[in-house]
Amino acid sequence: MRAVCPGSFDPITHGHVDVIGRAAALFDEVIVAVGRNSAKNYLFDTDERVELVSAATAGIPNVRVVVLTGLLVDFCRDQGAAVVVKGLRFASDFDFELQMAHINHSLTDLETVLLPASARWGTLSSTMIREVASLGGDVTAFVPPLVAERIHEKRVNRNG
Ligand code: PNS
Repeated sequence: MRAVCPGSFDPITHGHVDVIGRAAALFDEVIVAVGRNSAKNYLFDTDERVELVSAATAGIPNVRVVVLTGLLVDFCRDQGAAVVVKGLRFASDFDFELQMAHINHSLTDLETVLLPASARWGTLSSTMIREVASLGGDVTAFVPPLVAERIHEKRVNRNG
């Protein structure tokens, strides 16, 4: 069975990689769908986010990375996936994910599996990473090495 892990991944964190890896252990194939949320201002453009997600998941053989455009339900139908996997950190995630799961199921019967984030990365978010990084903090403990490198490069380019 094929599953889709959708997200903005701006940037991908150890928390995302953990959920993707655990989804890959549960399903035959996982497609990581790198999308754009129109309500968000992105640090990395789509090509950069795809590159960083690809690098971070390169060690997981049954994972593919694809750009998500349009509705998630249409994307899943086109990719032959009947299930979406989302990581769940705290109650506010659940409220939002439940709404998304309901509308997606109403649209095309797409199922949603909510995986609890591991305790280690349970409250990590890309928003926090961007905030710490933009104020000059060290994010290397929370993101894959290439992400930390690219954040560093952006800072050097901006300041230099
Ligand atoms: O959790 P994120 O990172 O904000 O997710 C972003 C993304 C692009 C995965 C999400 O916004 C999405 O699924 N967009 C596709 C449009 C869609 O199907 N929305 C849900 C129905 S309202």
